[in-house]
Amino acid sequence: MAPEHDYAARMFGLDGRVAIVTGASSGLGASVARALAALGARVAVVARRQDRLAELAKEIDGLAVVRDLSDLDNVASVVPAVVDGLGAPTILVNAAGNMFTEERAESEPTAAIRQTMDLNLIAPMLLAQAVFPPMRDAGGGSIVNISSISGRVGLPGIPQASYAASKAGLSGLTAELAVQWARHSIRVNTVAPGFFRSEITDVLYESERAAEYLRRNTPLPKEGTARDIIGAVVWLAGDAGSYVTGQTVVVDGGWTAR
Ligand SMILES: NC(=O)c1ccc[n+]([C@@H]2O[C@H](COP(=O)([O-])OP(=O)(O)OC[C@H]3O[C@@H](n4cnc5c(N)ncnc54)[C@H](OP(=O)(O)O)[C@@H]3O)[C@@H](O)[C@H]2O)c1
Repeated sequence: MAPEHDYAARMFGLDGRVAIVTGASSGLGASVARALAALGARVAVVARRQDRLAELAKEIDGLAVVRDLSDLDNVASVVPAVVDGLGAPTILVNAAGNMFTEERAESEPTAAIRQTMDLNLIAPMLLAQAVFPPMRDAGGGSIVNISSISGRVGLPGIPQASYAASKAGLSGLTAELAVQWARHSIRVNTVAPGFFRSEITDVLYESERAAEYLRRNTPLPKEGTARDIIGAVVWLAGDAGSYVTGQTVVVDGGWTAR
């Protein structure tokens, strides 16, 4: 077989690698954790709901790390727990995220703005700082942040100013870390999903008016699912994405292409 065929067959494999996936108790994070494990990685799953994490860790032979990442004091203990339980991580997927207010921009309470930044932007940055030493010592690694198309474009009718700012912040952080850490072969990228059904968006899909708004604004005809997003994460996490760094990859069924 030609060397390219060999490489093509192996470039999505993650055998022997240790990965951390935050927000893995549901939605995209859970799907990504299952996908990375299916490709051979040993995966530490991080979130608050212990029962769900324990079940998933058992299913994928991984490690449950129960932490509330909104409390930034909890972040520092994540990586040491993973090193103890599975070994040094060379993949980090920051998928934990939430919205804390549905107020219009002029009325967002300061406390909600801070909460949004803590979970969606500062916790991912602190986790990136924490995985830097093991990734540097291993000769490289890959960090994938999950943002949102709302970090790129305004979304009429769905007010989310602080959420959008936190997600746009991830793209800035991504470019800067990519440049600073390139010499250690640590790649840093962001995946920006459009809409897909999850616990955060269930309420949108349950309203016929909102569901129709999503359909009308998404060029591809099918409804997005977490499965539609994981391909980009898997690509960027492993060798298939070996020369891609500092990028924000939009996976939105064409929403932002209009
Ligand atoms: N669904 C969409 O249409 C969409 C679109 C664009 C971007 N996104 C982004 O995609 C990512 C995944 O969201 P999803 O749609 O899959 O929603 P989801 O099912 O609600 O998942 C969110 C995850 O984050 C975890 N989490 C929330 N607060 C946390 C905290 N304080 N500490 C630790 N973990 C916490 C949740 O677990 P616990 O509750 O157990 O802590 C859960 O595992 C998020 O960053 C979201 O902003 C989603």
